[in-house]
Amino acid sequence: MAKTLLVTGGAGFIGSCFVLQARARGERVINLDKLTYAGNPDNLASLVNDPDHILVQGDIGNAELVGLLLSQYKPDAVVNFAAESHVDRSIIDPEAFVRTNVLGTSTLLRVVKNWWQNLDEPARSSFRFLHVSTDEVFGALKPGDPAFCETTPYSPNSPYSASKAASDHLVRAFHETYKLPILITNCSNNYGPRQFPEKLIPLMILNALDGNALPVYGTGSNIRDWLHVEDHCSAIALVLEKGLVGESYNIGGHSERTNLEVVKTICAILQDEVPSPTRYADQITFVEDRPGHDFRYAIDCSKIERELGWKPAHSFDTGLADTVRWYLANEEWIENVRSGAYLDWIDSNYGHRG
Ligand code: NAD
Ligand code: TYD
Repeated sequence: MAKTLLVTGGAGFIGSCFVLQARARGERVINLDKLTYAGNPDNLASLVNDPDHILVQGDIGNAELVGLLLSQYKPDAVVNFAAESHVDRSIIDPEAFVRTNVLGTSTLLRVVKNWWQNLDEPARSSFRFLHVSTDEVFGALKPGDPAFCETTPYSPNSPYSASKAASDHLVRAFHETYKLPILITNCSNNYGPRQFPEKLIPLMILNALDGNALPVYGTGSNIRDWLHVEDHCSAIALVLEKGLVGESYNIGGHSERTNLEVVKTICAILQDEVPSPTRYADQITFVEDRPGHDFRYAIDCSKIERELGWKPAHSFDTGLADTVRWYLANEEWIENVRSGAYLDWIDSNYGHRG
């Protein structure tokens, strides 16, 4: 029988990709999403008449609602994407990150654990709680350091990564203490269609097209390891199916790039797609750095490759070109996300940077 999944944060960038893939596999999805500024039902427009995708607006920290959804739909697994996810916002308002990422995850875990403890076999043994986390919990690497592996000690530097680290520890503790069958995934920076344009890649694409400055923090030499969102979601599905209970799996795309390289590549792709008489790269502006800016992230994903047989299907170069073309082809999606609240954010994050 097809599985039922309770997906949290499934209207966001990565969660919506996972929901679309799950529906393509025939799984029923209950999607609990608070629909914050980052949650966008347009991401799921293709499922609007789908009776096996049930979108519920609500908070993972609402114990009563989570309890009702569990007893009504009896999911085979909970996949927790719900989070505040943007480092720059966490610098301006850390408590919002503690509320959702720490307290919200804690409530979700408690309610799921209480419900799971009363399940009969075999549902009790086959149930899974998969928590989606980030490589940022491991801290920052120097240029020659080996990539993060699953045993790298946690050393988070931003309020965002500290809140994600806290949530990972809670998830792990619920396994050690109550035997809740958990799995954790830690992945690198995602890119692809439907990413909210506060993050580097979509922000640069849209600013370039609008003729605005391309604000590179510091010298642009910081390094991120890019992973296509579809590869990330296929890895999560595999971990859910075959991962060993209690384990964590790193997921990465083997694509380390400096930020300046990424921005220059976006400019070159745009120059081919929408030729501009003034070159997009001339819009690059070096602005005041992010406080506590982690220098480098890099993921060693040999465990998931070796043990579960996963590997990324997208190369960064073709994946990035496809992503740029997605933004060029989806003007309506872009118009809808660039509301007044978005403009306020751009003003508060970039207004003072000069
Ligand atoms: P996103 O900000 O695009 O989406 C987050 C979603 O969670 C939104 O739909 C939002 O409405 C929802 N949400 C927020 N607070 C909620 C709450 N209290 N209750 C219910 N729903 C809530 O984020 P994303 O980029 O899709 O990231 C998803 C997950 O993956 C997050 O846990 C993030 O930490 C993790 N992650 C992201 C990246 C990345 O590069 N984007 C990398 C590694 C890990
Ligand atoms: P971001 O997409 O915010 O992801 P994260 O901080 O989680 O890695 O940023 C990616 C990199 O791009 C990071 O090193 C910060 C940098 N950056 C800029 O240089 N300018 C910008 O306007 C933004 C949003 C990010």
